[in-house]
Amino acid sequence: MVRLGINIDHIATIRNARGENFPSVVEAALVAETNGADLITVHLREDRRHIKDADVINLRNNIKTELNLEMALTQEMIDFALEIKPNFVCIVPEKRQELTTEGGLNVLANFDALGNAIEILKAHNILTSLFVDANSDQITAASDLGAYSIEIHTGKYANCKKPYLQNDVYYQIKDMCELANSLELVVNAGHGLTYHNVKPIANIPQMNELNIGFAIIANSIFWGLPKAVAKMKQLICEKQF
Ligand code: PXP
Repeated sequence: MVRLGINIDHIATIRNARGENFPSVVEAALVAETNGADLITVHLREDRRHIKDADVINLRNNIKTELNLEMALTQEMIDFALEIKPNFVCIVPEKRQELTTEGGLNVLANFDALGNAIEILKAHNILTSLFVDANSDQITAASDLGAYSIEIHTGKYANCKKPYLQNDVYYQIKDMCELANSLELVVNAGHGLTYHNVKPIANIPQMNELNIGFAIIANSIFWGLPKAVAKMKQLICEKQF
């Protein structure tokens, strides 16, 4: 069964919009867990635009499943991860001006720094994932570094407006999942996945986990969070023939 990581960053976005202490990210995480989330994912951005340090600490102390901390490759974030000890760290590229993570990491250009981070985190029993585009050089480099997993950036697939182009991007992702699996990397994916586009990605045989946020939190306005989570879980677990 494909694992579902629920990214709850946008619960914090709503909370911060009014500077209130609700809606609670911990309550959202617990509701997500009750309704099918296998892990809780948060991105502690350097500008703290949504999730704050205290949120991660509260989640660590209260959730019942596993915590996946998305973060930039900085000393500040590595130190924070060592203090919090999430189950997983997913290293992502981060730009101040972007609305959301725009592309995958350049593993080759950051080879030594990533290698150091993976080693330090591993020594503290934290498994590291690298957020990469569906690119064989980047995936091979992730394997050379001893990363536990990769998370393939599905934004390009999700944003494709033309079905024939989306098909090409899809088959590239599928091939890269096979490659990663052959290199003994655990294969995850995420970004831009919705109720309409998730199934083909979830049905890739090597897929271990999907991290999904915006579509679920957005639809929870109409359906409520329990149904928004449960419906996504059902979709990713149904086999497509
Ligand atoms: N995975 C990673 C590494 C991300 O950076 C994000 C966005 O924060 C997601 C998954 C979730 O993307 P979305 O909110 O588009 O579902």
